[in-house]
Amino acid sequence: MDRTVHHGLEGVLAGESAICEVDHEIGGLRYYGYEIEDLAEHCSFEEVAYLLLMGALPNPDELFEFKEALVASRPVSQKTIDFLCQVSPSVKRMDVLRTAVSMLGMDESDHEANGHAANLSKAIRLTAQMPALLAALLDLPLDENVRTDPSLSHAAYLLTALTGVRPEPFAVKVINVSLILYAEHEFNASTFAARVTASSLSDLHSAITSAIGTLKGPLHGGANEAVMEMLLKIEAHGDVKQYLEERLARRKRIMGFGHRVLRKGDPRSNIIKAYAKKLGEQTGDERWYKVSTALEALMQHEKGLYPNLDFYSASAYYLLGLPIPIYTPLFVCSRITGWAAHIIEQHDHNRLIRPRCAYTGPKARAFVSLEERA
Ligand code: SDX
Repeated sequence: MDRTVHHGLEGVLAGESAICEVDHEIGGLRYYGYEIEDLAEHCSFEEVAYLLLMGALPNPDELFEFKEALVASRPVSQKTIDFLCQVSPSVKRMDVLRTAVSMLGMDESDHEANGHAANLSKAIRLTAQMPALLAALLDLPLDENVRTDPSLSHAAYLLTALTGVRPEPFAVKVINVSLILYAEHEFNASTFAARVTASSLSDLHSAITSAIGTLKGPLHGGANEAVMEMLLKIEAHGDVKQYLEERLARRKRIMGFGHRVLRKGDPRSNIIKAYAKKLGEQTGDERWYKVSTALEALMQHEKGLYPNLDFYSASAYYLLGLPIPIYTPLFVCSRITGWAAHIIEQHDHNRLIRPRCAYTGPKARAFVSLEERA
């Protein structure tokens, strides 16, 4: 047995997967061999969701059928919606979402089935249900005509559900690109949590509940909300350099920067950054792009750290008028597809995930009865 302890499993190959290749040397990212730049530029989220779940890009007929299945699967049980709406607004939205997904699992007739077809059917349904869940997280009514409208792409349906109005084409493009960028990233913490849960032959909804609980953390998915809170503070503070120096002096983390694997930059960040810039130009509110690029330059100079996907996603969402507490649930809305792909892959070729640890506790010692213990 290798007795080297790799804290945080850093640099450890913890399994095999055919889904996603993160090329940390050159900052490349491919889903089943396709470059993320090509997918973000040329695909709908539906095409990429199909790619992740089926392992190939769909032809026109396959895409039509997949889109039909997503539209048909949009409904969420009224009891789940009622639960979401009666939870106190003070409860973190990710806690409510995690619980709602767990509830949806109980509605599934094949809840305990881990076969490929059952998992695929549950994954498609859960992907389709996410916009209705996110609208309920914001206590927004979802118009029946919107939910049943097959002409709305997944991105357009999501944005309509979250804003109550039919969005402009560019806003749909931004959300579509964001959904593609957030969809999958190899053995990140939440995906690995999902695989550990699936490896015990627990069900897909339990594994995704584990993943949502993991993604919530500010070191992982929770960062995008923290980034926007930080940008608002910097805007109020007025001096980005002074703000940063104060934070770094107190050894505070700057949210949206750094990555365990991508030490030379995140290719996804470059893509969403261009959209954040264009949104600033279109809305006439270029403050956030200016502060963000200033912070990016300072972080590279001071810490040698680069923005990750969460950094520019925050201001893009803000300029789309989306409320900050829905940013990490938006990450879930997309990553459902990557998590499900990994759960299916794990169930199809399973081996229980059970690593060892280096013991650091007391040496073996004689037992002392209660009476003898002082
Ligand atoms: C995501 O894994 C994935 O693929 C995740 C993700 C995905 O698609 O699933 O890409 C999505 O989660 C992106 C990351 C979002 N999180 C954040 O933006 C939170 C801020 N970032 C950090 O906390 C940090 O960069 C991590 C957690 C992302 C990575 O941390 P590591 O690999 O554990 O690095 P580390 O903590 O060992 O830090 C190394 C050094 C330290 O300095 P020293 O203490 O050695 O002097 O870099 C410093 C850290 O203090 N550092 C930072 C920093 N990130 C690292 N300093 C200030 N601000 C930061 N953001």
